[in-house]
Formats: sequence, C-alpha cells, structure tokens
Amino acid sequence: MRVVDLRSDTVTLPTDEMLEAMPRAPLGDDVYREDPTVNRLEELAAKKMGKEAALFTTSGTQANLVSVLSQTRRGEEVILEADAHMYYYEAGAFSAFGGLIPRLVKGQFGVLTPQDIERNLRPPNIHFPPTSLVCIENTHNRAGGTVWTPTQTRAIFDLAHGRGLKVHMDGARIFNAAVAQNIDVRELTQYVDSMMFCVSKGLSAPVGSLAVGRQEFIDNARRYRSMLGGGMRQAGVIAAAGIIAIEKMIDRLRDDHSNAQTLAKGLASIEGITIDLPHIQTNIVVYDVAGLGTDGERWVAKLGESGVKAGALEGSRVRMVTHRGIEKEDIEYAVNVAEKTAAQLRKR
Ligand SMILES: Cc1ncc(COP(=O)(O)O)c(C=O)c1O
Repeated sequence: MRVVDLRSDTVTLPTDEMLEAMPRAPLGDDVYREDPTVNRLEELAAKKMGKEAALFTTSGTQANLVSVLSQTRRGEEVILEADAHMYYYEAGAFSAFGGLIPRLVKGQFGVLTPQDIERNLRPPNIHFPPTSLVCIENTHNRAGGTVWTPTQTRAIFDLAHGRGLKVHMDGARIFNAAVAQNIDVRELTQYVDSMMFCVSKGLSAPVGSLAVGRQEFIDNARRYRSMLGGGMRQAGVIAAAGIIAIEKMIDRLRDDHSNAQTLAKGLASIEGITIDLPHIQTNIVVYDVAGLGTDGERWVAKLGESGVKAGALEGSRVRMVTHRGIEKEDIEYAVNVAEKTAAQLRKR
C-alpha cells in the first residue's frame, strides 16, 4: 500500500550526503570540547543566528530545558503561550527539574502581544513567584505552524527587557518562519536572549538541536546538559549531518510550504472540513473535522486504512505536516483519500 506520512517533519530521513559525511567526520571527545565536527556545528549555528555561542543537544526538548534552567531560579515564574510546545508536550520538564511555575497566556494564533504579557505581570510581592522569563514559539506548532514577524518579536523583547525579564524562543522550526517571510533568520533571533532550533525536523538530520545565545548563557547550558546526561562524546558522527542540514537544507523548506498550501486548499474544498486558510503559513496544516460528525482519532484511523498518516490533536482537530519526501503527487493522493473518506462519512 502507498504510504504518505504526514504526521510530522520529524519522520524525515537523513539525505545521502548526510549519510556519506557521517562516517568521515573528524571526531574527538566532545565533553573535552575536542570533537572538531561538533565544534564546527556549534560555531556555524551561532554565526547563522547572529549570537556568540551554541550548544549541540540531543533534542529540542533538551535544548529548551537547558535554556530555561540557565536563565531562571527555582520558585520563579515563566510566561508561555497557553498552547506552547514547552508546556504541552515536554512532560512538564521545566517544572519537574527547574521548580518553575508556568504562567500561561492565551495568544492569537500562537502570537503574544506586549499587552498580553503586561496584563499577566504582577508587582513584586512576597506572595507572588517572581517572573523571570518569557518563552515564545516560532513557528508555533499547535497553532498550525504560524509565524511571528520581527516586529511582533521585538515588541515582546522590548517589553520584557523593560521589566527585567529575559526572552527565550523555541525556534524548533525557526527556518520555516524565516523562509515563509523571505527574511534572514537573524531578523528574528536578534530579539531574543536565547533560542533553540532543531536540525532533526524539516532540515532532515537524524538527531539533534542547538541552544544558542551569549557565551555565558551557553557555558551555563553546557553544565545543565551535563547534569541531564547529555554529554555525547564522539557526537561528531551526528553533528556532521547537522552541518549539512544548516548549509544545504534551508531553502528547500519552500517546497514544503508550497505543498502545505496545495494540501490546505484541497482539504478546504471538502464539505465538512473547516480550515483557516490565511493561517496556513508554513508546513503545518491544522483543520477541523467536526462537520463530518467524527473526531480526530477516528478520522486519522480512517485515513490510515488508505496509507495516509496524520496526527489527531484534541477533539476534532487534525494535523498534517509536509516535509522532504512528500511530493506533489503524495499531496494529491492524500487529498483524494480525504475526499473519499469524507464522502463515506457524509453518507452515514
Ligand atoms: C515547537 C517545538 N518545540 C520543541 C520540540 C521538541 O523537539 P524534540 O522532539 O527534538 O525534543 C518540538 C518537536 O516536535 C516542537 O515542535
């Protein structure tokens, strides 16, 4: 059976070039800072983001966690968008390991305004946990891959700095945000103190993410990574793929965005499916199947019978993600399967 896997861009496999580079990578013990390939990846990542230094981590979750731990103290409060990946999908890591209290603020399509933050800042008072960090997410996963613009990012940065808070960006898909807006990624990263991005998603590397920021922040993050068991020794084997991800795989994200548009328009034409087309901005397509009298789980199971894999969010929301390996014909096939499945449901 034909399989079209639209569950996530994390299913991308390494390119041939990555697989060839990996066994040839110069190696050393990275915990001694002697792995030339990891060192090169970290330098490249820092330069790309316009920051002083970077740290290679096992995953996006680990990069977010070391970034938060390095900029907070136990008992402090961290502001996040209510649907943030860091809150929703990272197993409560920063509360469990950092003793931090999340303060959730509902944004519009994942984006917060300074007023949203301002309303949630409390004056110093012995009864309140002090707030120390604001976390933003670009692109915003649960909102459907929506982007923050440089202006929106700067507005949060200015407000936060005016109030003595730091800003961390979960930029797991930051290059999708930059490509979608036709801007250099530094236009987005210049307005955050720290950020992380993944080479393991649309950029197709098999493993890894990078935390990026000032040297002092990275020195701290490196210590936390060690605490979490993230010292990876000859990690150049995987870092080699990360270098290719950054050097060669960014521009092609445009293809994923264009496929996502085709997919979204195809789904929008199906009676019973609701989709907010203007907010399909990158490679994530979130839609609602309530109009078909079903829920996400059942819809996804039905599509799966014809080889189309998708992700059920809560209730009747469904997520599909385009990525390398998904071609125009796969999109046509997926829309076709969705049409047929919807027609069957409408007939019941
Ligand atoms: C927005 C966002 N942040 C962080 C992560 C975590 O990355 P990882 O799966 O590498 O831990 C993901 C993963 O899907 C994500 O979508």
